[in-house]
Amino acid sequence: MTGQIVVVKIGGSTLGQGDTSLADLVLLQKRSQKVVVVHGGGGEVSSWSSRLGIQSTFIAGLRVTNQEELHVVTAVLAGLVNKRLVLELNNAGGTAVGIAGVDGGLIAADVMNPALGFVGDVGRVKPRLVSALLDAGFLPVISPVCYGKREGVRTLLNVNADDVAAEIAIALRASRLVYLTDVPGVLDTHKKVLPRLSTTDVARLTQEGIIRGGMLPKTRACVVASQIVKETRIIDGTTQHALLREFDDQVGGTSIVRDELA
Ligand SMILES: Nc1ncnc2c1ncn2[C@@H]1O[C@H](COP(=O)(O)OP(=O)(O)OP(=O)(O)O)[C@@H](O)[C@H]1O
Ligand SMILES: [Mg+2]
Repeated sequence: MTGQIVVVKIGGSTLGQGDTSLADLVLLQKRSQKVVVVHGGGGEVSSWSSRLGIQSTFIAGLRVTNQEELHVVTAVLAGLVNKRLVLELNNAGGTAVGIAGVDGGLIAADVMNPALGFVGDVGRVKPRLVSALLDAGFLPVISPVCYGKREGVRTLLNVNADDVAAEIAIALRASRLVYLTDVPGVLDTHKKVLPRLSTTDVARLTQEGIIRGGMLPKTRACVVASQIVKETRIIDGTTQHALLREFDDQVGGTSIVRDELA
């Protein structure tokens, strides 16, 4: 497998705010850096669901994805959000190709909690399609619409984008995994950035309720990835050239490292 691949997860919260993330991705591609983008877009799914009159239900804070909502998730994430990103990257001079977790059998998912409906956890990753796109010089843009079996029937499954990014980084043996988000990193109770966290630190901060909400799946995914991926980072995607600076001077943000390296 080709080395020096970078996986970047773009948060829905930083998308479309006129930040420089997409321009940075194109510059990295022009530097011949192999980059893979994974995106979410939960906010957009919610807004389309409510426009279509679909009631969202939650179990312990987790959104239940019923059949109707799965259709919205697929249309919005694998369609609108994915294609808009590709268009913007290509407009900025890149050569992006949008795919979903289902394409090329990329990500098979397992239903862990049937009560959540059509939601899966990453099972097996077959990165052949992504590697082929990278080798051909394309910038793959991946939505987390994956596939698997539910009640014995093959179906599309909605998977958390933070987990998808981590598992793709592992499967590609990426050298770096970067989460672009809307905060300067993992923050302590005084809103100060914690620059370096071990697996044990993440467990403690989670237990103490300091890491919560959207930061939970992200730090969990980082802990998993950090076993294999050398640099696992959570940075503020809303600052100017956050991504370029990540490669050039790496100021700010949070690194998640294995306990042995802490
Ligand atoms: N300790 C913490 N430090 C920083 N942010 C935290 C912490 N605990 C919870 N959060 C929340 O996590 C949020 C980031 O996760 P969120 O899921 O909202 O964004 P994202 O994953 O970047 O985007 P999206 O989910 O829309 O794709 C922050 O905006 C903040 O509200
Ligand atoms: Mg999130």
